[in-house]
Amino acid sequence: MSHRIITIDGPAGAGKTTVSKLLANELGCVRVDTGALYRGVAYEIIQQDIDWQNNEILTAFLATLDLNFILTKEEPRLVSSGKDITPHIRTPRITMLASATSARPAVRSALLDLQRNIAQEQDAVFEGRDMGTVVFPDATVKFFLFADLTVRARRRFDEIQDAEKDFYRVRQQMEKRDADDSTRSQAPLKPAPDAIHIDASHLTARQVVTKMRRYL
Ligand code: DC
Repeated sequence: MSHRIITIDGPAGAGKTTVSKLLANELGCVRVDTGALYRGVAYEIIQQDIDWQNNEILTAFLATLDLNFILTKEEPRLVSSGKDITPHIRTPRITMLASATSARPAVRSALLDLQRNIAQEQDAVFEGRDMGTVVFPDATVKFFLFADLTVRARRRFDEIQDAEKDFYRVRQQMEKRDADDSTRSQAPLKPAPDAIHIDASHLTARQVVTKMRRYL
């Protein structure tokens, strides 16, 4: 692989996005939030009212899907058939549907080339669940970032703007998503054998990046 590819895998709320932003910024490369792609699939499933449990319907739908990233050094945008859908993919409904549909092999393989093509073009920091294990087994450096469930749920809870928010519900949903993402048969969330593990439970994003820089 000619370009420098850094992978950051880990569960929801471990701080992957903040850390990969800081790191990509320091290294002067782009960052790719691959979770956004799975969210884009879920968004279109809802928009087009797709019966995704049906394999034939799912395959036909995926063949028409036209997702792309516009990667700039600032905020990357996710575009579906020419429309910027970035502001619409972070709802709780899409979060849970992205996790459920990402377990389908057809969904995973539909997004594989898209991710690898980006790496052909430029140096990048990729964040996700299977970056170091499946998508980029030959990545330059691989990190696995994790933190205690309660710490992660607290961070997510603090980001939610809704006055009705409920910490225990956020924690419970995160626990379910962790379990679903880790136990699925296709590309489950797990560290690559050669990944560097970082426990971010008691570290700021800045401290995590400082640790990472020792390997870069
Ligand atoms: O990182 P995120 O929370 O935005 O990801 C949303 C869902 O997408 C997550 O629950 C699992 C799935 N996902 C995946 O299966 N593989 C990836 N590389 C990234 C995300």
